[in-house]
Amino acid sequence: MENTLTQDEQKFTTLKTEKISHVKKYYIETYGCQMNVADSELIETLLHGEGYEASKDPFDSDVIFVNTCSIREKAEEKIHSQLGRWHLIKKKKPEILIGVLGCMAQNLKHEILENRPYVDIVLGPDSYRRLPELLKRKLKIHDSLIDTKLSRFEVYEGLFPNRKNGVNAWISIMRGCNKFCTFCIVPFTRGRERSRSVESIIYEAEKAVKNGFREVTLLGQNVNSYKFKNHKFHHLLEKISRIPGISRIRYTSPHPEDITDELLYVMREHENITNYIHLPLQSGSNRILKRMHRSYTKEEFLLLARKIRKILPDVGISTDIIVGFPGEDDKAFQSTINVMDKVKFDSAFTFMYSPRIGTKAAEYDDQIPEDTKKLRLERIIQLQKEHSLKRNIQLLGTTQEILIEKESKMSKKQWAGRTDSNKWVIFDKRNSNLNDMVKVFIKDAKGITLQGDLINDLKAA
Ligand code: 5AD
Ligand code: SF4
Repeated sequence: MENTLTQDEQKFTTLKTEKISHVKKYYIETYGCQMNVADSELIETLLHGEGYEASKDPFDSDVIFVNTCSIREKAEEKIHSQLGRWHLIKKKKPEILIGVLGCMAQNLKHEILENRPYVDIVLGPDSYRRLPELLKRKLKIHDSLIDTKLSRFEVYEGLFPNRKNGVNAWISIMRGCNKFCTFCIVPFTRGRERSRSVESIIYEAEKAVKNGFREVTLLGQNVNSYKFKNHKFHHLLEKISRIPGISRIRYTSPHPEDITDELLYVMREHENITNYIHLPLQSGSNRILKRMHRSYTKEEFLLLARKIRKILPDVGISTDIIVGFPGEDDKAFQSTINVMDKVKFDSAFTFMYSPRIGTKAAEYDDQIPEDTKKLRLERIIQLQKEHSLKRNIQLLGTTQEILIEKESKMSKKQWAGRTDSNKWVIFDKRNSNLNDMVKVFIKDAKGITLQGDLINDLKAA
């Protein structure tokens, strides 16, 4: 049956195959914080606007992006080794483009350009709008294209994320940080604080509800420093909580300094704002806190934690703790343990201090040896496990409202969802569905996860 097509038919078939083969595909990997997850969703919107489609396979794509994180050395190492792998793909498929986006692009542009000449595009966190233009230009020129200018204004107003998750919609409300903690690279990679308009945030939240999302998480490097005209964070939170159809509102990551009484009262008054606060301690030693340029003392932190628990009974409080910050002697470390013992956080993200070039603390000459940092880290991880278990045990025998977020990693027959106070609960699916709000009886507490039973299969309103 060879050569049975007419000339016109042949031309049409060629055109059709050309068109199909011209659907460009992108592959994107995201590292780091939720801000980066939200930024990648914005980047995907820009790419779809240019006719690109998502690919799950870096080899089967025209462009590979990595949205990077610089917060600790480990994060950067992971990305470096991934870039090495993609270099191998590029050797086999030279037409593929590689783009490095986000904090490492901002922070390490010179190193990337010098040591990784196969990287085609380097874009900092405030330059994503230029992506379509640079992709087009890159097809014509050979050199690497780079834009890492930080902006005082860019909040990606009017650009809406391409969301996939289905349960929670990340909504970025502010960008950047003015606090300059001496250990932190963020103010350098993400620039100064700026907030989005109230109207556009409300519009985006309403749109998320229309698209079926029941939960929104408001995001910002310093989320509770949000300020737009005369609107502060608690004003915004209250407005969002009044949008019909939002079952849960979370926010992250706040700074203790900006946790106001008004914010706590708004949280108490509105059921759909989760009863949970992330309260990064970093250290329990006043000397170290001062050196970290944190704006509170341990006494102020303890008072704040007590006030939060008083205004918001049963609240879940999590924290961030760094061990081995320069100059942290045994006494200072013990002060951190003491604060942990007093507050008994529900959960904690614990880190060994990682020097970041360009930050003040990296220049302190009393750096702590790695093995001391490791021992201290192990100690606080162990202590936190005990505290988490104690807090979890308090929920035994209670009934909790759970938003079903995903399948349990342990069993296909079980769901995983969170309580109002941000604790994960695993339970048999029975007749419940993803994105349902259900009532679950808490029957067991193991480690950081709770086990429960769905109550009488009735879906809560
Ligand atoms: N080393 C270790 N941990 C860090 N963090 C930020 N910078 C560093 C660093 N250089 C931690 C802080 C912060 C969290 C997001 O990451 O605890 O709250
Ligand atoms: Fe980093 Fe401190 Fe700003 Fe948080 S508040 S992003 S830790 S500088």
